[in-house]
Amino acid sequence: MAKKVLFYNAKGGQGKTTLAVNYTIFSHSAFYTNEYKVGTEDLYKDKITQGKHPERFNVITKDDQKLAIADKSVFDFGGSLDGRIPAVARASDLCVIPIHYQSKAELRPLFIMLSAIAEFNKNILIVINNTESVFTDSLLEGLASETKYPIKVVRHSSFMTYLANDGLTPFELDIKGAPKKALTNIQNQLSDLFNFIQKY
Ligand SMILES: Nc1ncnc2c1ncn2[C@@H]1O[C@H](COP(=O)(O)OP(=O)(O)OP(=O)(O)O)[C@@H](O)[C@H]1O
Ligand SMILES: [Mg+2]
Repeated sequence: MAKKVLFYNAKGGQGKTTLAVNYTIFSHSAFYTNEYKVGTEDLYKDKITQGKHPERFNVITKDDQKLAIADKSVFDFGGSLDGRIPAVARASDLCVIPIHYQSKAELRPLFIMLSAIAEFNKNILIVINNTESVFTDSLLEGLASETKYPIKVVRHSSFMTYLANDGLTPFELDIKGAPKKALTNIQNQLSDLFNFIQKY
């Protein structure tokens, strides 16, 4: 069972925070981020702590030498590999790498980043997230031939944006008039991903 899970990609806008916060809530974990003053706290702190669990939202700054880490922890880390990321990657049971793929220009940086993380932890899960369907299949094929890591897919869905905009996870949504099939689809993809992570 994975108790400590890192969501990491050096690049922005990949879906790290969206997936990490959803997984934190799903797994009742404590959340740790290295994103300081970029809005993560404003957007998600109350959602994660529910006014009852203040210890579940934590910002790790560069100055933190030691931090009491909860038994079940989710790390949402972005940016370059400063000292915190190797330490957190080593301490994690699984490193989840979300990729919002837009073109082949991203492939080489992706492979470089994967090998950088693999130096600290080889338990890696790639998540093709929020990516146009036309690219998803060829990326799945390309990644499968170049890497041995498991791969999951979370498709683009407008239901994913409710978390930032309305503080609601896709599991909490039941929107009148919304196509039920589309909501069920994204819920199933997230359940599949989160159960895989939890059982890893
Ligand atoms: N599967 C998805 N479908 C639709 N929108 C998504 C999906 N995943 C993420 N998004 C949207 O993409 C945007 C970027 O997501 P998010 O903030 O989670 O990325 P990030 O990797 O944490 O970025 P940053 O490095 O800036 O912190 C957000 O507007 C989010 O709502
Ligand atoms: Mg983020």
